[in-house]
Amino acid sequence: MTRVYMDHNATTPLAEVVADRITAVLREEFGNPSSVHHFGQRAKAVVDEARSAVAELIGGDPSEVIFTSGGTESDNFALRGAAEALEPSGRRHLVSSGIEHEAVLNTLKALGRRGWQITMMPVGASGLVTAEALTASLTDQTAVVSIMHANNEIGTIQPVAELTRLAKARGAVVHTDAVQTAGKVPVNVKALGVDLLSISAHKFYGPKGVGALWVRRGLRLLPFMTGGKQERGRRSGTENVAAIAGMGVAARLAMAKMAEEAARLAALRDRLEQRILQTVPGTAVNGDPDTRVPNTSNISFDRIEAESLLIALDLEGVAVSTGSACSSGTLEPSHVLKAMGLPAHRTQNSIRFSLGTVNSEADVDRVVAVLPGVVDKLRSLTRTPVRG
Ligand SMILES: Cc1ncc(COP(=O)(O)O)c(C=O)c1O
Repeated sequence: MTRVYMDHNATTPLAEVVADRITAVLREEFGNPSSVHHFGQRAKAVVDEARSAVAELIGGDPSEVIFTSGGTESDNFALRGAAEALEPSGRRHLVSSGIEHEAVLNTLKALGRRGWQITMMPVGASGLVTAEALTASLTDQTAVVSIMHANNEIGTIQPVAELTRLAKARGAVVHTDAVQTAGKVPVNVKALGVDLLSISAHKFYGPKGVGALWVRRGLRLLPFMTGGKQERGRRSGTENVAAIAGMGVAARLAMAKMAEEAARLAALRDRLEQRILQTVPGTAVNGDPDTRVPNTSNISFDRIEAESLLIALDLEGVAVSTGSACSSGTLEPSHVLKAMGLPAHRTQNSIRFSLGTVNSEADVDRVVAVLPGVVDKLRSLTRTPVRG
């Protein structure tokens, strides 16, 4: 069976040049970057080159890039590190949005249990955080504001630059989770104006388990990994040299191909979306149709349980994902679609198609060929009445 992978927001396959570089570094650069001798200095040069590439990808300075174990650690470090550094100032308030990734949501919950006051901003029907919502949430006590650059489920890109100006005018530190934009669309820390920005290599054809946190020079951040003072004392632990090298190559590859690939994927995504809307009745696109990453389409299917559709598509060789999660036999609605105010039935029946380098027009045609039949079959099995 030919399989179609349309789940690139979950993870991407390793690019060939990245795999080659990782293999070469694993074999040849075994030194510890902290060692002063030849072997150590070679490994340090590998890490430094990757740091320059990652800095260039996001428009920052290499000295501002801290390598981490991925997006989750970067988000944890940003929020906990900035909040704890500001604790003595008496600011004990954190602001974020209801559509953030769990790496942010659950970190905020944990901080909330430790006495931090948390405000979760509502989002509009298309998933955008508004200036009004932020203005209404900010207080003189606000320490950190965290608003994701693009959402992983619906792809909506937030007006981070505008929101950052408002938050900084009230003296808050601003973090953005750019895990779903870095490598896909231009990301520039200066244009965004933020203090902290998280990225993850496996979302742009790099390896899993490596990411970076960009920290604006001069910002105080309390490290939560203490030890041998690697990464300028901010993230201790011997660097994962090969994975970091792979992330560097992936960053350079993304920069080289970004404009061309974004246009190609947007055209494929639009073709997929239009043909699904035309051929499958009872479908609707979720999120902002204009302000979104080029590879993502989130579609609700009336009278369908997303999990069932995902499994049925997988049996046909099509890999997609759902925002809702099936836990202990009950279908959890997507927290993102819920925060957007969608009715209950729309929050449990959405499928995310996220495209990437491996996809072609033939993949789109294959999905469009199997989808109507799969949906019809599932609908014929459900006793839920047709919604008017
Ligand atoms: C928006 C967003 N933030 C954070 C993460 C977590 O990144 P990682 O898998 O590298 O821990 C993801 C991954 O799904 C994501 O989509």
